[in-house]
Amino acid sequence: MLRRSLRTCLALPSKSVMNGVPQRMARGMTSSASLRSDALFVHRDTPYNNPSIPFAWTKESSKEAEKIISHYPPQYKKAAVIPLLHLAQKQNDNFLSISAMNFVANYLEMPPMRVYEVATFYTMFNRTPVGKHFIQVCTTTPCMLGGCGAESVLNALQDRLGIHPGETTEDGKFTMIEVECLGACANAPMVQINDAYYEDLTPESIVKIVDALERGEHVKPGNQDGRLNSAPAGNERTLTEKPYGPGQYCVPDFQ
Ligand code: FES
Repeated sequence: MLRRSLRTCLALPSKSVMNGVPQRMARGMTSSASLRSDALFVHRDTPYNNPSIPFAWTKESSKEAEKIISHYPPQYKKAAVIPLLHLAQKQNDNFLSISAMNFVANYLEMPPMRVYEVATFYTMFNRTPVGKHFIQVCTTTPCMLGGCGAESVLNALQDRLGIHPGETTEDGKFTMIEVECLGACANAPMVQINDAYYEDLTPESIVKIVDALERGEHVKPGNQDGRLNSAPAGNERTLTEKPYGPGQYCVPDFQ
């Protein structure tokens, strides 16, 4: 099973010929990282991203920011920079603008450059605007191999939205990117849309999710094929007997 899936994913049997040399039709497995981390993190003022655009916490964000800062000793409040950048990004439609970074720097009494360094190091911070629904498709090994089907989910999204990874739909509703492991491998394949994880996907279920989001409906995050969290798919096959009671552990007989 695994072997067949490996062959399918890497398309090992398929051959093409380039300059007389047989080529394997292997799909580049590093395309996601190059799109995100190869971006040039140099700020250039644009009409939608320049320091004169005001940014300040909303009432809700302000409360949340105070709560976050309260977790740190006052002399180390700079340690809250990552959660505060996340908060700023969330408030700003998933986009961390220069004004948002400057605001956080000022809020934490940090040099702005220190904040820029953090924001440009982590690819989770979007330094360019993204669509209302920011779809991150995991195409790392566990989601891709063993018949899990990350590639078919990605293809279904590309067909449905008419965009490739790294692009945004014309109406600005959806941006899609490929990402590395999002830590939900037990429920592969999966995608993250804004803050929510959608797991155990099929090409059909991801299209249904996109359809619903486009209609403005809420889609319940988590498992999409009915199983409970990461419980075994199908019937339990282990730990099915009655558990030992306290003090009745099975002690091996070495004699
Ligand atoms: S490989 Fe996809 S969540 Fe881990």
